[in-house]
Amino acid sequence: MIHEVARAKLNLALHVRHRRSDGYHELETLFAFVRDGDGLTVESAEADRIGITGPFAATLQAEGDNLVTRARDVYRAAFGTFGPCAILLDKRLPVASGIGGGSADAAATLRALARRDNVSLDHPQLKASAQALGSDVPACLLSRSAIGSGRGETLAPIEGLAGVPALLVNPGVEVSTATVFGRWDGEDRGPIGTGDPLGIALAGRNDLEAPARSLAPAIDRVLAVLAEQAGTRLVRMSGSGATCFALFEDAAACTTAAAAIRQAHADWWCLETALV
Ligand code: C5P
Repeated sequence: MIHEVARAKLNLALHVRHRRSDGYHELETLFAFVRDGDGLTVESAEADRIGITGPFAATLQAEGDNLVTRARDVYRAAFGTFGPCAILLDKRLPVASGIGGGSADAAATLRALARRDNVSLDHPQLKASAQALGSDVPACLLSRSAIGSGRGETLAPIEGLAGVPALLVNPGVEVSTATVFGRWDGEDRGPIGTGDPLGIALAGRNDLEAPARSLAPAIDRVLAVLAEQAGTRLVRMSGSGATCFALFEDAAACTTAAAAIRQAHADWWCLETALV
Protein backbone atom coordinates (compact mmCIF):
# COMPACT_ATOMS: atom_id res chain seq x y z
CA MET A 1 0.00 0.00 0.00
CA ILE A 2 1.36 3.44 -0.92
CA HIS A 3 0.37 6.56 0.95
CA GLU A 4 0.79 10.17 -0.22
CA VAL A 5 -0.26 13.50 1.31
CA ALA A 6 -1.90 15.83 -1.22
CA ARG A 7 -0.68 19.02 0.43
CA ALA A 8 -2.72 22.22 0.20
CA LYS A 9 -1.22 24.80 -2.15
CA LEU A 10 -1.05 28.52 -1.47
CA ASN A 11 -0.30 31.31 -3.92
CA LEU A 12 1.60 33.73 -1.67
CA ALA A 13 1.50 36.14 -4.62
CA LEU A 14 -0.26 35.79 -7.98
CA HIS A 15 0.39 38.35 -10.70
CA VAL A 16 -1.73 38.00 -13.83
CA ARG A 17 0.13 39.53 -16.80
CA HIS A 18 -2.03 38.96 -19.88
CA ARG A 19 -4.68 36.81 -21.49
CA ARG A 20 -3.23 34.46 -24.10
CA SER A 21 -4.73 33.54 -27.45
CA ASP A 22 -5.40 29.99 -26.12
CA GLY A 23 -7.70 31.47 -23.43
CA TYR A 24 -5.32 30.83 -20.52
CA HIS A 25 -3.63 33.66 -18.65
CA GLU A 26 0.09 34.23 -18.46
CA LEU A 27 0.94 34.60 -14.78
CA GLU A 28 3.75 34.81 -12.25
CA THR A 29 3.11 33.24 -8.89
CA LEU A 30 4.88 32.25 -5.69
CA PHE A 31 3.65 28.74 -4.86
CA ALA A 32 3.99 27.46 -1.31
CA PHE A 33 2.71 24.26 0.30
CA VAL A 34 1.56 23.47 3.81
CA ARG A 35 2.20 20.28 5.73
CA ASP A 36 -1.50 19.22 5.75
CA GLY A 37 -3.77 18.13 2.94
CA ASP A 38 -5.88 15.30 1.59
CA GLY A 39 -4.67 11.73 2.14
CA LEU A 40 -4.34 9.27 -0.74
CA THR A 41 -3.58 5.54 -0.68
CA VAL A 42 -3.11 3.22 -3.64
CA GLU A 43 -3.07 -0.58 -3.57
CA SER A 44 -3.52 -3.44 -6.03
CA ALA A 45 -7.08 -4.71 -6.38
CA GLU A 46 -9.20 -7.02 -8.54
CA ALA A 47 -10.86 -4.10 -10.31
CA ASP A 48 -10.27 -0.34 -10.48
CA ARG A 49 -11.99 1.36 -7.60
CA ILE A 50 -12.09 4.84 -6.05
CA GLY A 51 -13.27 5.35 -2.49
CA ILE A 52 -13.73 8.78 -0.93
CA THR A 53 -13.90 9.46 2.80
CA GLY A 54 -13.41 12.60 4.90
CA PRO A 55 -15.31 15.79 5.69
CA PHE A 56 -15.59 16.92 2.02
CA ALA A 57 -16.30 13.47 0.49
CA ALA A 58 -19.96 14.24 -0.23
CA THR A 59 -19.19 17.53 -2.02
CA LEU A 60 -16.68 15.82 -4.28
CA GLN A 61 -18.95 12.85 -5.03
CA ALA A 62 -21.72 15.28 -6.00
CA GLU A 63 -19.41 16.91 -8.59
CA GLY A 64 -19.04 13.64 -10.53
CA ASP A 65 -15.76 14.56 -12.25
CA ASN A 66 -12.82 13.41 -10.20
CA LEU A 67 -9.23 14.39 -10.94
CA VAL A 68 -7.94 11.25 -9.20
CA THR A 69 -9.64 9.00 -11.76
CA ARG A 70 -8.36 11.21 -14.58
CA ALA A 71 -4.81 11.14 -13.17
CA ARG A 72 -4.88 7.33 -12.97
CA ASP A 73 -6.08 7.10 -16.58
CA VAL A 74 -3.56 9.67 -17.89
CA TYR A 75 -0.75 7.83 -16.07
CA ARG A 76 -1.90 4.50 -17.51
CA ALA A 77 -1.98 5.96 -21.04
CA ALA A 78 1.54 7.37 -20.60
CA PHE A 79 3.28 4.46 -18.87
CA GLY A 80 1.47 1.44 -20.27
CA THR A 81 -1.06 -0.83 -18.72
CA PHE A 82 -0.79 -1.89 -15.13
CA GLY A 83 -3.08 -4.01 -13.03
CA PRO A 84 -6.26 -2.63 -11.51
CA CYS A 85 -5.86 -0.60 -8.35
CA ALA A 86 -7.95 0.68 -5.49
CA ILE A 87 -7.45 4.35 -4.63
CA LEU A 88 -8.74 5.76 -1.38
CA LEU A 89 -8.98 9.54 -1.08
CA ASP A 90 -9.44 11.14 2.33
CA LYS A 91 -10.94 14.50 1.29
CA ARG A 92 -10.00 16.99 4.01
CA LEU A 93 -9.60 20.17 1.91
CA PRO A 94 -12.62 22.16 0.70
CA VAL A 95 -13.48 21.70 -2.98
CA ALA A 96 -13.06 24.53 -5.57
CA SER A 97 -11.39 26.76 -3.02
CA GLY A 98 -8.09 28.10 -4.43
CA ILE A 99 -5.80 25.78 -2.48
CA GLY A 100 -5.34 23.22 -5.21
CA GLY A 101 -7.39 20.42 -3.66
CA GLY A 102 -8.20 18.62 -6.91
CA SER A 103 -4.80 19.42 -8.45
CA ALA A 104 -3.03 18.15 -5.32
CA ASP A 105 -5.09 14.94 -5.43
CA ALA A 106 -4.20 14.40 -9.10
CA ALA A 107 -0.51 15.06 -8.37
CA ALA A 108 -0.57 12.70 -5.36
CA THR A 109 -2.07 9.99 -7.58
CA LEU A 110 0.74 10.46 -10.12
CA ARG A 111 3.37 10.40 -7.32
CA ALA A 112 1.92 7.24 -5.77
CA LEU A 113 1.78 5.37 -9.10
CA ALA A 114 5.28 6.59 -10.05
CA ARG A 115 6.65 5.48 -6.69
CA ARG A 116 5.08 2.06 -7.10
CA ASP A 117 6.65 1.68 -10.59
CA ASN A 118 10.03 3.27 -9.69
CA VAL A 119 9.38 6.10 -12.16
CA SER A 120 11.38 9.23 -11.32
CA LEU A 121 9.38 12.37 -10.41
CA ASP A 122 11.58 14.14 -13.01
CA HIS A 123 10.43 11.83 -15.81
CA PRO A 124 9.40 14.09 -18.72
CA GLN A 125 6.33 11.94 -19.39
CA LEU A 126 5.21 12.32 -15.76
CA LYS A 127 5.64 16.10 -15.98
CA ALA A 128 3.68 16.12 -19.25
CA SER A 129 0.92 14.05 -17.60
CA ALA A 130 0.76 16.56 -14.75
CA GLN A 131 0.52 19.49 -17.17
CA ALA A 132 -2.26 17.77 -19.12
CA LEU A 133 -4.31 17.46 -15.92
CA GLY A 134 -4.27 21.17 -15.02
CA SER A 135 -2.18 24.32 -14.65
CA ASP A 136 -1.42 23.75 -10.95
CA VAL A 137 -0.75 20.01 -11.14
CA PRO A 138 3.00 20.33 -12.01
CA ALA A 139 3.50 22.57 -8.92
CA CYS A 140 1.55 20.09 -6.80
CA LEU A 141 3.65 17.21 -8.17
CA LEU A 142 6.71 19.02 -6.79
CA SER A 143 4.87 20.17 -3.62
CA ARG A 144 7.58 22.61 -2.60
CA SER A 145 7.82 26.37 -2.86
CA ALA A 146 8.56 27.63 -6.34
CA ILE A 147 8.10 30.59 -8.62
CA GLY A 148 5.63 29.54 -11.29
CA SER A 149 5.21 31.19 -14.67
CA GLY A 150 3.47 30.49 -17.98
CA ARG A 151 0.10 28.95 -17.07
CA GLY A 152 1.77 28.07 -13.76
CA GLU A 153 3.54 25.00 -15.11
CA THR A 154 7.06 26.48 -15.50
CA LEU A 155 8.66 26.13 -12.09
CA ALA A 156 11.79 27.47 -10.39
CA PRO A 157 12.09 26.06 -6.82
CA ILE A 158 12.87 28.60 -4.08
CA GLU A 159 14.02 28.00 -0.47
CA GLY A 160 13.34 29.85 2.76
CA LEU A 161 9.69 29.44 3.78
CA ALA A 162 9.74 26.15 5.75
CA GLY A 163 8.13 26.35 9.17
CA VAL A 164 6.29 29.66 8.73
CA PRO A 165 2.99 29.30 10.67
CA ALA A 166 -0.09 29.66 8.44
CA LEU A 167 -3.82 29.81 9.00
CA LEU A 168 -6.18 28.96 6.11
CA VAL A 169 -9.80 30.08 6.26
CA ASN A 170 -12.64 29.38 3.82
CA PRO A 171 -16.14 30.82 4.25
CA GLY A 172 -17.83 27.81 2.61
CA VAL A 173 -18.45 29.29 -0.84
CA GLU A 174 -17.19 27.55 -3.99
CA VAL A 175 -15.91 29.78 -6.80
CA SER A 176 -15.12 28.68 -10.34
CA THR A 177 -11.51 29.35 -11.40
CA ALA A 178 -12.55 29.97 -15.01
CA THR A 179 -15.21 32.52 -13.94
CA VAL A 180 -12.75 34.41 -11.71
CA PHE A 181 -10.11 34.57 -14.47
CA GLY A 182 -12.87 35.70 -16.84
CA ARG A 183 -13.57 38.69 -14.57
CA TRP A 184 -9.93 39.87 -14.44
CA ASP A 185 -9.86 43.50 -15.66
CA GLY A 186 -7.01 42.95 -18.13
CA GLU A 187 -4.64 45.44 -16.52
CA ASP A 188 -1.03 44.26 -16.17
CA ARG A 189 0.10 45.54 -12.75
CA GLY A 190 3.67 44.39 -13.18
CA PRO A 191 5.94 41.41 -12.53
CA ILE A 192 6.56 39.47 -9.35
CA GLY A 193 9.72 40.47 -7.45
CA THR A 194 12.99 38.68 -6.93
CA GLY A 195 15.06 37.82 -3.85
CA ASP A 196 13.93 36.12 -0.66
CA PRO A 197 10.51 34.46 -0.86
CA LEU A 198 8.89 36.24 2.08
CA GLY A 199 9.99 39.58 0.60
CA ILE A 200 8.50 38.55 -2.77
CA ALA A 201 5.24 37.62 -1.04
CA LEU A 202 5.05 40.85 0.98
CA ALA A 203 5.79 43.04 -2.03
CA GLY A 204 3.38 41.04 -4.21
CA ARG A 205 -0.39 40.84 -4.62
CA ASN A 206 -3.11 38.52 -5.84
CA ASP A 207 -4.64 39.96 -8.99
CA LEU A 208 -7.56 37.51 -8.74
CA GLU A 209 -8.64 38.93 -5.38
CA ALA A 210 -10.78 41.76 -6.81
CA PRO A 211 -12.65 39.57 -9.34
CA ALA A 212 -13.18 36.81 -6.74
CA ARG A 213 -14.46 39.31 -4.15
CA SER A 214 -16.97 40.66 -6.68
CA LEU A 215 -18.36 37.11 -7.08
CA ALA A 216 -18.16 36.05 -3.44
CA PRO A 217 -18.40 38.98 -1.01
CA ALA A 218 -17.85 36.55 1.91
CA ILE A 219 -14.16 36.82 0.99
CA ASP A 220 -14.19 40.47 2.19
CA ARG A 221 -15.27 39.30 5.61
CA VAL A 222 -12.63 36.55 5.83
CA LEU A 223 -9.84 38.95 4.85
CA ALA A 224 -11.08 41.53 7.39
CA VAL A 225 -11.24 38.98 10.20
CA LEU A 226 -7.74 37.65 9.40
CA ALA A 227 -6.37 41.22 9.29
CA GLU A 228 -7.76 41.86 12.81
CA GLN A 229 -5.62 39.06 14.31
CA ALA A 230 -2.43 39.86 16.21
CA GLY A 231 0.98 38.75 14.90
CA THR A 232 0.20 38.44 11.17
CA ARG A 233 2.91 39.04 8.57
CA LEU A 234 0.70 38.71 5.51
CA VAL A 235 -3.04 38.32 4.83
CA ARG A 236 -4.17 37.41 1.31
CA MET A 237 -6.49 35.27 -0.79
CA SER A 238 -5.03 32.13 -2.43
CA GLY A 239 -5.44 31.30 -6.13
CA SER A 240 -8.91 32.13 -7.44
CA GLY A 241 -10.37 31.91 -3.90
CA ALA A 242 -12.32 31.74 -1.80
CA THR A 243 -9.74 30.42 0.72
CA CYS A 244 -7.68 33.18 2.36
CA PHE A 245 -4.60 32.76 4.52
CA ALA A 246 -2.51 34.58 7.07
CA LEU A 247 1.18 33.96 7.71
CA PHE A 248 2.20 34.58 11.33
CA GLU A 249 5.28 35.73 13.24
CA ASP A 250 5.08 32.64 15.49
CA ALA A 251 3.01 29.52 16.10
CA ALA A 252 1.45 30.87 19.32
CA ALA A 253 -0.11 33.83 17.45
CA CYS A 254 -1.42 31.42 14.81
CA THR A 255 -3.00 29.18 17.48
CA THR A 256 -4.64 32.16 19.21
CA ALA A 257 -6.08 33.43 15.91
CA ALA A 258 -7.35 29.95 14.95
CA ALA A 259 -9.15 29.58 18.29
CA ALA A 260 -10.73 33.05 18.03
CA ILE A 261 -11.92 32.49 14.45
CA ARG A 262 -13.29 28.99 15.17
CA GLN A 263 -15.28 30.40 18.05
CA ALA A 264 -16.67 33.44 16.22
CA HIS A 265 -17.27 31.69 12.87
CA ALA A 266 -18.09 28.07 13.58
CA ASP A 267 -19.37 27.61 10.00
CA TRP A 268 -16.03 28.60 8.40
CA TRP A 269 -13.40 25.99 7.54
CA CYS A 270 -10.18 26.79 9.35
CA LEU A 271 -6.80 24.98 9.13
CA GLU A 272 -3.93 25.82 11.46
CA THR A 273 -0.76 24.60 9.79
CA ALA A 274 2.75 25.61 8.63
CA LEU A 275 4.56 25.99 5.32
CA VAL A 276 6.91 23.19 4.26
O1 C5P B 1 -5.64 24.52 -15.87
P1 C5P B 1 -6.93 24.40 -15.15
O2 C5P B 1 -7.84 23.37 -15.77
O3 C5P B 1 -6.77 24.18 -13.67
O4 C5P B 1 -7.63 25.80 -15.28
C1 C5P B 1 -9.00 26.01 -15.03
C2 C5P B 1 -9.44 27.26 -15.76
O5 C5P B 1 -8.83 28.41 -15.18
C3 C5P B 1 -9.04 27.30 -17.21
O6 C5P B 1 -10.01 26.70 -18.02
C4 C5P B 1 -8.93 28.79 -17.49
O7 C5P B 1 -10.22 29.32 -17.71
C5 C5P B 1 -8.45 29.35 -16.18
N1 C5P B 1 -6.99 29.55 -16.14
C6 C5P B 1 -6.47 30.62 -16.84
N2 C5P B 1 -5.11 30.85 -16.81
C7 C5P B 1 -4.29 30.06 -16.09
C8 C5P B 1 -4.82 28.96 -15.37
C9 C5P B 1 -6.18 28.74 -15.42
O8 C5P B 1 -7.18 31.37 -17.49
N3 C5P B 1 -2.99 30.32 -16.06
